[in-house]
Amino acid sequence: MIHVENLSKHFGEVNAIQEIDFTVNDGEILGFLGPNGAGKTTTLRIITTFLTPSGGRVTVDDLDVAEHSAEIRKRIGYLPELNPLYDEMLVYEQLRFVAESRNIVGRWFTEALHRVIDVCGIKEVIHRPVGELSKGYRQRVGLAMAIIHDPDILILDEPSAGLDPNQIVEIRELIKQLGREKTVIMSSHILQEVQEVADRMVILNNGQVVADGTTAELMAGFEGKASLNLDVKSASEASVTGLTRKFTDIKVRENSLHDGHGHLLLEYSTGHDLREQIFHYAVESGWIILEMSRTQAKLEDLFRKLTIENGGPHA
Ligand SMILES: Nc1ncnc2c1ncn2[C@@H]1O[C@H](COP(=O)(O)OP(=O)(O)O)[C@@H](O)[C@H]1O
Ligand SMILES: [Mg+2]
Repeated sequence: MIHVENLSKHFGEVNAIQEIDFTVNDGEILGFLGPNGAGKTTTLRIITTFLTPSGGRVTVDDLDVAEHSAEIRKRIGYLPELNPLYDEMLVYEQLRFVAESRNIVGRWFTEALHRVIDVCGIKEVIHRPVGELSKGYRQRVGLAMAIIHDPDILILDEPSAGLDPNQIVEIRELIKQLGREKTVIMSSHILQEVQEVADRMVILNNGQVVADGTTAELMAGFEGKASLNLDVKSASEASVTGLTRKFTDIKVRENSLHDGHGHLLLEYSTGHDLREQIFHYAVESGWIILEMSRTQAKLEDLFRKLTIENGGPHA
């Protein structure tokens, strides 16, 4: 269990994060979402004990990161944002180097090596120089380095940044698989990725937590707009105007009616579901409804709203 309490970090005048709170439960995959400059890397570097907080505290399994860095580094595997590799080493040597730094040698190294080769799918490249690897394989090797000591917690900072679409899918699958056994925090500035991989998300903007919950929870609290697509016949312009008079919450966003036949796009706030009233109005007005479909406000809208309307990323 990871507790982040009232955590702040400033670099001189820059407040990178300000009094943030969130919790990561055991076994959970937490998506740590926010635009560039939101403070994701800073937070992750504090949790992994590579940076000290300016205020507040972080505990990992009840151990304070400020006091127990060595113990916490044993429990955490960390894939930094700029995954630093030695290009001139062979993949196998790179892994041995990381293992040695954790005192994993001899038989224990052999065992660990087989495990990470298997989990991360890096058998083909194990005798290749790191500098010759594709970006996808570099990330796999980075993950292998992060889990060489079989930690319970994995912290991945923008693990799919710079990958092509196929590699992104592969790395996501790998993260999901690792998430079955481990507690994972994965940062990203891409909502879709977090939605696909994570159980829960914390959204950061301007160094502050602006949302925390499952996709469903976040949506439930989001008063966005619902859109209703209607294909109709026999709908007079007067009756369309009449609809917006009767229901003042409804706006007509598109109207391509010709002689009463065509498409209408209606919009209203998701707080009230007006489909039934619209249906009855249509029947009363003699419209023939050929099609009626609703588009719900999307989580993207919420993300955009939270991260743009709150002032956007740091300059
Ligand atoms: N070492 C540093 N010195 C000065 N400012 C920093 C440093 N690291 C991060 N920052 C600033 O802190 C803010 C948050 O950065 P960061 O945590 O890297 O965000 P993210 O990972 O979400 O893109 C940014 O404004 C960034 O410029
Ligand atoms: Mg970052």
